[in-house]
Amino acid sequence: MSIILAIESSCDETACALYDTQRDKLLANHIYSQIALHAPYGGVVPELASRDHIRKLIPLIDQALSTSGLRPDQLSGVAYTRGPGLIGALMVGATVARSLAFAWSLPSLGVHHLEAHLMAVMLEDSKPDWPFTALLVSGGHTLLVRVLGLGRYVVLGQTVDDAVGEAFDKTAKCLGLSYPGGPALSALAETGDPSRFAFPRPMLNQKNCDFSFSGLKTHTASCWKKNQTDDDRENEMLKRDIATAFECAAVDVLLKKTARALEQTGDTRLVVAGGVSANKRLRLAFKTYFSEAGCDVYYPRYAFCTDNAAMVAMAAAMRMSEGECDEGGLQVKSRWSLESLRPPEEG
Ligand code: KG4
Ligand code: ZN
Repeated sequence: MSIILAIESSCDETACALYDTQRDKLLANHIYSQIALHAPYGGVVPELASRDHIRKLIPLIDQALSTSGLRPDQLSGVAYTRGPGLIGALMVGATVARSLAFAWSLPSLGVHHLEAHLMAVMLEDSKPDWPFTALLVSGGHTLLVRVLGLGRYVVLGQTVDDAVGEAFDKTAKCLGLSYPGGPALSALAETGDPSRFAFPRPMLNQKNCDFSFSGLKTHTASCWKKNQTDDDRENEMLKRDIATAFECAAVDVLLKKTARALEQTGDTRLVVAGGVSANKRLRLAFKTYFSEAGCDVYYPRYAFCTDNAAMVAMAAAMRMSEGECDEGGLQVKSRWSLESLRPPEEG
């Protein structure tokens, strides 16, 4: 057996997974969300996140081992998210992973969080071959990237200001929805009238693959302020219509810039990953448009779009199978460029 224990603790989710690399099988996948902890503050409080990871991580690992009936001596490696992310939260995951690896005489490997998001799709039955073009949309990043192989990334475009997930969260907050706003805004957007407002499509006229979402967020805030009345029912409808207009604009920009990236790369395979790839309107619009354009579209299942440890296990399994493991001291990285990564065989 060749089983990897993986840990994710880069932000507000404590997660742990066990993955059998020989049978290509996920044996355990546990997530503890810190939503309730951060909700009163309207966003993630980094120090509280770190402290909660300390409390939850070991019990979660115990739970994963006991539910899958495994002992530490049956494991072959320990993986964790090395960065990018909240530095204190990363330190907790890295310290626990490396201490366990030391105690159990196992190799460990710290992986790049965005590479893990990109490799989440490899946990599905339908996996893309290399090369492919990927849209990576999360709370901290919005990237179009050409993936030539594991560790071989060319960034084609990215956001010049807010990440799209961040724009979802901030817009939701402005409409009075509670943290984390993205999923709540998207649920509300399913019920609105898409023809009432036409929101701007930022940077579409620029012939590149870059994005900007902060203006869209500001436009939403002013539309909400300008159109509110004294009637609560009307305001509720207004909120829905604004949520829909925002979501339509964001999805449209993501889709058109992705189409441009595919034109550039000539790829016929597209991967959409990261928390915002759980968005239903986005999934439907992308599937419809790109399938018609003759492109195969791959998504991770919903649970593997947002942060999880199964994707960390997958990225680590792919690298460890080439003999890669941690060397030297403990090093986490709050900022870490995806393009600085190398394939495992190049070290
Ligand atoms: O990948 P992720 O879990 O964490 C980061 O690496 O940032 O992404 C979280 C982001 C948040 O901004 C959240 O609001 C957004 O993904 N998100 C969504 C949806 N589900 C999560 N945004 C829009 N629609 C959704 N259904
Ligand atoms: Zn993430």
